Amino acid sequence: MTDRYAVIGNPISHSKSPLIHKLFAEQTGQDMSYETVEAPLDGFAATVQRLRAEGYKGCNVTVPFKFEAFKLCDRLGERARDAKAVNTLLFQDGKILGANTDGTGLLTDIENNLGFKLMWKDALLLGAGGAASGVLWPLFNAGVGIDIANRNIEKAKILADDFTGSGTVYARRYEELAGRKYDLVINATSSGLSDELPPLPDGLFKPGALAYDMMYGRETPFMEYARKHGASLVADGLGMLVEQAAEAFYLWRNVRPDTQPVLERLRS
Ligand code: ATR
Repeated sequence: MTDRYAVIGNPISHSKSPLIHKLFAEQTGQDMSYETVEAPLDGFAATVQRLRAEGYKGCNVTVPFKFEAFKLCDRLGERARDAKAVNTLLFQDGKILGANTDGTGLLTDIENNLGFKLMWKDALLLGAGGAASGVLWPLFNAGVGIDIANRNIEKAKILADDFTGSGTVYARRYEELAGRKYDLVINATSSGLSDELPPLPDGLFKPGALAYDMMYGRETPFMEYARKHGASLVADGLGMLVEQAAEAFYLWRNVRPDTQPVLERLRS
C-alpha cells in the first residue's frame, strides 16, 4: 500500500514540497504520496490527530505551526530541541517523533551546493522570528560567530541569551552595523514578502562574502542589495528547501535522495 505523507501549514497552497517529494520518490523508487494540508490557525493539533487516525506515516510542518509541533512530540532530535521548533513528524508505534531539518538544510546548501566553508566565519543573521531561531544553533555548532540584527532588539536579545558565556552570538541594532564586516549575511526576515529591505548600511560584505536569502521564488530586495554592495556569492533559499526535504525524506524512508537533479528541475 502507498505510504501517505503531507505538509501542514497555513497558507500552504503554493508549497513546492509535494513536487520535491514526488521527484525524490520517483528517483528512489519509493511507493509514497505527499500532499498539502491547510490546518485552521487554531486547529493544528486536531489536524495532526486526524492524519494519524487516517494512517498517514508522517508530515512536514511549516509556518506558523513549527512551535506547536514541537510541543506535540513524544521524542525529539537535538536540532528540534535547540530550536524549540519542529518541521518533520514521524508517526510510529503510537508515538509522535519530531525533528527539525531546517538547519541541516541550510548548512548542506551552503557547504555542499554553494561550496562555502562555514567554520570560523563571521555571520550576520537578519531577523529574530521563527526562521532565524531555527538556524541559529546549527550555525553556532558549525563554528560560526553570529551577530543577530532585528528591528525589535528585545527579540534578538532573547535569542542571543541562549549563548551567554559562549562569546560568539550577539544581538545588534541595525544602526550598530555601520563599519562592521561579515563573511556571510543571511536574511531570515520576512521582509522579502512585502518587497522591503531591512535597513542595512553600505560596506557590510568582506571579500568572498556570501549573501543568502532564506526566501525563494524570486529576486528579493535583499538579493539586489547584496549584488550591488559587493557580495561575491548571492543565493536564494531554494537549495535549503530541497535539502531540508531530503533530510526529512531520509528520516522517513531510510534512503538519501540525490538533491542535484531536483534542484536543477526546480530552477528550470
Ligand atoms: P518567520 O517565522 O518567517 O521568521 P516571524 O516570526 O513573523 O516570521 O518573524 C519575521 C521577522 O522578520 C522578524 O524578525 C521581523 O522583525 P521585527 O521582529 O523587528 O518585526 C522581520 N521583518 C519583517 N519585515 C521586516 C522589514 N521590512 N525589515 C526588517 N525586518 C523585518
